[in-house]
Amino acid sequence: MKKITILDTTLRDGEQTPGLVLSASGKLEIAQRLERLGIDIIEAGFPASSQEESDAVRQIAASSLACVAALCRASEGDVIKGWEAIQAAESPRLHVFIATSELHMAHKLHMGKSEVLDAIRSSVSLAASLASDVEFSCEDATRSDPDFLEEAFAAAASCGASTLNIADTVGFIMPEEFERLVERMVASFGSSAAIGVHCHNDLGLAVANTLAAIRAGASHIEGTINGIGERAGNCPLEEAIMALEVRKDYYQVQTNINTKAIYRTSQRVAELTGIPIPAVKAVIGENVFAHESGIHQHGVLSNPLTYEIMTPQSIGKDRSTIILGKLSGRHAFSDRLEQLGYKLNENMLNKAFDEFKAIASKKSVIADEDLEAIVWSQMVSPLEEYKLETFQINSSNIMKAMASITISCNGRHITEAATGSGPIDAAYNAIMKIVGGEWPLESYSLKAVTEGMDALGEATVKVRHDGRLNTGKGLSTDIIEASILAYINAINRTLAVRNETTGC
Ligand code: KIV
Ligand code: ZN
Repeated sequence: MKKITILDTTLRDGEQTPGLVLSASGKLEIAQRLERLGIDIIEAGFPASSQEESDAVRQIAASSLACVAALCRASEGDVIKGWEAIQAAESPRLHVFIATSELHMAHKLHMGKSEVLDAIRSSVSLAASLASDVEFSCEDATRSDPDFLEEAFAAAASCGASTLNIADTVGFIMPEEFERLVERMVASFGSSAAIGVHCHNDLGLAVANTLAAIRAGASHIEGTINGIGERAGNCPLEEAIMALEVRKDYYQVQTNINTKAIYRTSQRVAELTGIPIPAVKAVIGENVFAHESGIHQHGVLSNPLTYEIMTPQSIGKDRSTIILGKLSGRHAFSDRLEQLGYKLNENMLNKAFDEFKAIASKKSVIADEDLEAIVWSQMVSPLEEYKLETFQINSSNIMKAMASITISCNGRHITEAATGSGPIDAAYNAIMKIVGGEWPLESYSLKAVTEGMDALGEATVKVRHDGRLNTGKGLSTDIIEASILAYINAINRTLAVRNETTGC
């Protein structure tokens, strides 16, 4: 069967999701998970955008066995910076792009067609002199004149690009139209280059367009985990992959993907990025294998195929049969974590186990979701400048809520009190007094991670500081405590990502 190559751009296009900030350790973990998932090419970033980005790409390139790609505009400076960041990779790829639509050339690049072709020739030639693997993308290809698109691809192919990628940058094209466009490019270049597609989801057609392209002969597809990305995001790879898997009879292609790693990868991407997965999201949403109506339940009990076209196991969504609780020891705890795919170092394991014990003393059964949340809370905040010590809240419906919070910072305990319109507002005002500066709350949500009266509550907040949004999460059986922890977590993450300290 024909092989489809998959490029994941969660760490590059996905990172352009508004409000998302990933720490260097978060990026590295995602890269490792993508490798385990069987992704062929990990697009690690856009090194010319900042030194921080370039360092993160370098770190991923040095530690990954998969092919690692760096995105570069069609300019000498970008290609050199891209190469510097990925040259240590086992198999480095330079990914050069330039826009080819009239709209982009006139209003963004201020270049004519011949200047664009010159830029393609010089940048792709330079890239090919450095790396043996060069991809070239036409940005806004689907709104470009197809004749000019062919000219651009011909120029790139003659200068050494071996993958020619058609980007539906604004999610504009319809599947049938895309099929014809891809067919044309496959007919012109398919014997000497891989034809790739990169689809955005503005009209919800990214997966349909990607699949249409495969039918038309494309052999390379791009997307992100959970479909994250700018605006409506990119093609959600888990959906495209499972469509190819479930309908192998129809597509007759194969991929390198270990589908059993999909669920865990998707969950971790959601946790590390702070972008939640809707319950009704295809393939990975919580409701995908849940059945509410009696008729469906009856059908699934007698034969799951009645209402399930894939099994939860096929995406690695397996239920644990081991029940962890307050009597479980460190060994059972670390064993279960390993089964879930987490291998923690000694220090992290100790911290995670302490948290597990604290939660197990309040909650009778600890489910896998609880364990994941515990591990996550240890991993997302490697640099904890502020730590909650105690809190006391008075809240009633006859006067303003009042909070007194004690936080430790560098061994020093600081206590402040504040009032607010409710208990969480009062607590956040007290924390702001301790930390100093403006940390306004932009969004707040609370969900039960597990079921039952003693469910763990997970609070997620988005806090703005110096113009940037940062996400924080907090976990506790007490929802006020979870909310306070989430706010402190957002502050710690902001400081960690910016490598700052408030000097408390
Ligand atoms: O959407 C787009 O056009 C891109 C290219 C840089 C491939 O992300
Ligand atoms: Zn894109």
